[in-house]
Amino acid sequence: MTDKATLTIGDKSYDLPILKGSTGPDVVDVRKFYGDSDHFTFDPGFTSTASCESKITYIDGDAGILLHRGYPIDQLAEKSSFLEVCHLLLNGELPTAEEATKFEHNITYHTMLHAQFDSFFQGFRRDAHPMAIMTGAVGALSAFYADSLNVDDPKQREISAHRLIAKMPTIAARAFQYSVGRPFVTPRNELSYSENFLRMCFSVPAEDWVPNPVLTRAMDRIFILHADHEQNASTSTVRLAGSSGAHPFACIAAGIACLWGPSHGGANQEALEMLEEIGTVENIPAYVQGVKDKKYKLMGFGHRVYKNFDPRAKVMQKTCYEVLEQLGINDPLLQVAMELEKVALSDPYFIERKLYPNIDFYSGITLRAMGFPTNMFTVLFALARTVGWISQWKEMFEDPARKIGRPRQLYTGATQRDYTPLEKRG
Ligand code: CMC
Repeated sequence: MTDKATLTIGDKSYDLPILKGSTGPDVVDVRKFYGDSDHFTFDPGFTSTASCESKITYIDGDAGILLHRGYPIDQLAEKSSFLEVCHLLLNGELPTAEEATKFEHNITYHTMLHAQFDSFFQGFRRDAHPMAIMTGAVGALSAFYADSLNVDDPKQREISAHRLIAKMPTIAARAFQYSVGRPFVTPRNELSYSENFLRMCFSVPAEDWVPNPVLTRAMDRIFILHADHEQNASTSTVRLAGSSGAHPFACIAAGIACLWGPSHGGANQEALEMLEEIGTVENIPAYVQGVKDKKYKLMGFGHRVYKNFDPRAKVMQKTCYEVLEQLGINDPLLQVAMELEKVALSDPYFIERKLYPNIDFYSGITLRAMGFPTNMFTVLFALARTVGWISQWKEMFEDPARKIGRPRQLYTGATQRDYTPLEKRG
């Protein structure tokens, strides 16, 4: 097998090394191509470009496979816990019993926020979208935790990573409680990560909060399913922001801002709103026709990488059934979702384009049943994805080949011309 590709432009040929991964497509190394040939490669949307080397997450989109550090996502969702997955993503291995205890302790003892941080929330309007609050609040962490901003110090990088994983649930719960006018709830160290988050979101001072093991497990599983996803838009944003040496809180805030877009994490809110708009099974054919007429997209469907079932969607669907059953909820939107999935999967428009349900299709129904309003859905995604972002950010700093990210362009604007004085224009 060849270990180089040859590209010919006019009468000149250029040899490009081929780099091999442990699995998945090999890559053609074009790093020296511009210097040698005075040509750029052109790939808007990065559909054929590997932007970095990584050992964290592997996706085979045709086969519907997602592995974290080699472990299949369905096994992790079934057998692991979110904090164990955090350790795996950050450090490369599942923790030993001793490491697990230490890691859990580290995260648990970083969940509180500086007392003055709470007054920060009061500056937002009550009806602010919680993602707007998240973007601002996470960026503001650097104003409170300035002792872990030195990105060249591995210890400080680790402390920042632990702080982010630990404090995101506290910030997310405060964004929620603030929007519904309830008092903030202090984290409790004897509770698990997901129990703590649910308690901070749903407990009120007037009565004791009792954990529901099915809901806690569902929350933990939803966090696992969203923990990392290779070089997606928000992760690439975090890496690009970090490549300049920006501190981790700013980089994660940039990732949150990117995630909010409806083509990315914002799709979970939009998918549920779409199901609400469709309303009943009878309205599905007309809605699907609108999709085929390109009036709008079917939210929660399609993926840049998966051209098969999103493996996360299968686990999400199972979790959705479990939660609805536990809560005794007969949500008519589940009927709409199931029928819509059936109609779409048998329609040539979706078959030809390989459009399958993604993780966002069933997550909204589940989260709504658990008591979250739609505008919190993307916040939960951001909370869970924080470990992926910070693991990728950490990996970038450990890579000796790290360089500031600086794409180039195909320029199609005006060529050089002389300035025209105002009186001679038009
Ligand atoms: N509904 C209808 N048509 C679609 C959809 C959809 N959801 N997704 C793609 N298509 C069509 C698209 O119009 C195009 O058709 P044509 O070839 O006739 O022009 C074809 O399929 C290929 O689409 P694309 O836009 O080239 O695909 P992409 O890889 O650029 O987009 C995507 C991927 C996820 C942005 C897109 O599928 C989409 O907008 N889906 C809905 C939003 C959504 O659910 N996003 C969540 C993704 S999973 C969670 C996450 O990563 O954040």
